[in-house]
Amino acid sequence: MANAPFVLTIAGGGSTYTPGIVKSLMVRLNDFPLAEIRLYDIDTHRQNTIAPVVEKVICEHSQTIRFVVTNEAKTAFSGTHFVFAQIRVGQYKMREQDEKIPLRHGVIGQETCGLGGLAYGLRTIMPMVELIDLVERYADNAWIVNYSNPASIVAEGIRRLRPQARVLNICDMPVAAMRNMAAILGVDRHDITVDYFGLNHFGWFTKIWVNGKDHLPELRRHIAQHGLLTADAAQTDPQHADPSWVKTWRNIKPIMDHFPDYVPNPYLQYYLMPNHIVERQNPDYTRANEVMDGREKKLFKAAAEFKRTGILPDAFHVGVHGAFIVDVACSLAFDLRQRHLVITENRGAIANLPYDAMVEIPAYITAQGPEPVRIGNVPLFHQALLAQQLASEQLLVEAALEGSYEKVLQAFTLNRTVPTMQQAKAILDEMIEANQGYWPTLNQACHQGEAI
Ligand code: NAD
Ligand code: G6P
Ligand code: MN
Repeated sequence: MANAPFVLTIAGGGSTYTPGIVKSLMVRLNDFPLAEIRLYDIDTHRQNTIAPVVEKVICEHSQTIRFVVTNEAKTAFSGTHFVFAQIRVGQYKMREQDEKIPLRHGVIGQETCGLGGLAYGLRTIMPMVELIDLVERYADNAWIVNYSNPASIVAEGIRRLRPQARVLNICDMPVAAMRNMAAILGVDRHDITVDYFGLNHFGWFTKIWVNGKDHLPELRRHIAQHGLLTADAAQTDPQHADPSWVKTWRNIKPIMDHFPDYVPNPYLQYYLMPNHIVERQNPDYTRANEVMDGREKKLFKAAAEFKRTGILPDAFHVGVHGAFIVDVACSLAFDLRQRHLVITENRGAIANLPYDAMVEIPAYITAQGPEPVRIGNVPLFHQALLAQQLASEQLLVEAALEGSYEKVLQAFTLNRTVPTMQQAKAILDEMIEANQGYWPTLNQACHQGEAI
């Protein structure tokens, strides 16, 4: 790793998160000095719309940082030191399909969970591997810190196809939950240390340490009333304050009413109470629509206003999303060995899950990557849920590598959000149509089973 100041490339430069991440980088320039920021995207128009906003954010904080906007891999990655990846393969148009197709069959339709997540995974594995190859072709030893979803499937795909790559897969959900916990406990987010185990978007907080004392009992009392919703949600976290997220934070309550030992990752609502969610979901207006009408529109409006007036509306905040990726990059860059929740190969950390599972656990982030914390055995209930989800995701990755229709069907059928194999098949067949040009070709078995 070269000495600071660094060159950093954001892959998925046209993302709605880019201005927030760059703002986060700007307020942390003393910790993470930058010589150059490059935006890289395959959608030139989208990236060019957002780039002036990003440039303005940079100019407000620094006169020395070079700013480059490109759709060419060589320009983007030559000599870069860090890549923040946040690509959305198929963009919101395909997210909408991931959410709406399963819902038409009475099954959870979600960006990263259930069949929507598996569909997104089938689109994303190969483009992520191509991205890694491009970075490795043009840069020496760069770290790729990856937010691109679905993070657990992406992580498993990379483990299978590019096991030596310098990629660290991360998720902001546990940090967002910790931010809420801190607000409830009246402490700073950075003063909380958690014990946690699971897969991405499928795990549990088992201890909430503040100054050596476990505050889970105190949190339980708040959760029994409000879930993990905080009074100041809208101020502390505009992203996770939309109506659908408010419901999500509240749904921690029913889960803990039944299973009070641990605080679940909010995404467990989709696996533990799918009927409740589906019944209350408008199948014609899902989260993709909410995001297009909300975050995306706000960003495009700000970009248009800036173009017209030269004044940038104060539309971007430094949330946990931007703060967390900068924290992780600092720890990688300067061998800080800070403890963060990241996605990493199990290698025995959770003793009763497979050695090669990509798990989400606390780890000390060194210049060579994560050094995971040993968890030991997890209880049978959680182990069984995890094993089922892991198998579903691993089968999906195998299906992508082998082009196997049957394995995708197995992955779909095994997913806890899906009641029957017939529903799995009907959804799969609709998804194949919708994902033409994105999914690998799936070789269909010739036998077509019909229920008698
Ligand atoms: P977005 O559609 O606004 O941005 C994604 C960008 O990626 C688009 O501009 C698109 O053109 C670009 N892109 C697609 N394929 C590409 C490729 N092969 N190479 C380069 N660029 C490519 O989406 P968004 O809502 O801003 O989210 C961005 C990503 O971040 C998504 O994958 C989302 O799921 C993920 N995300 C993850 C976390 C987490 O916790 N891990 C948190 C938030 C967002
Ligand atoms: C959380 C999750 C991300 C997910 C995002 C979706 O932050 O950790 O993995 O992509 O929520 O948010 P959105 O606002 O796009 O629905
Ligand atoms: Mn996430």
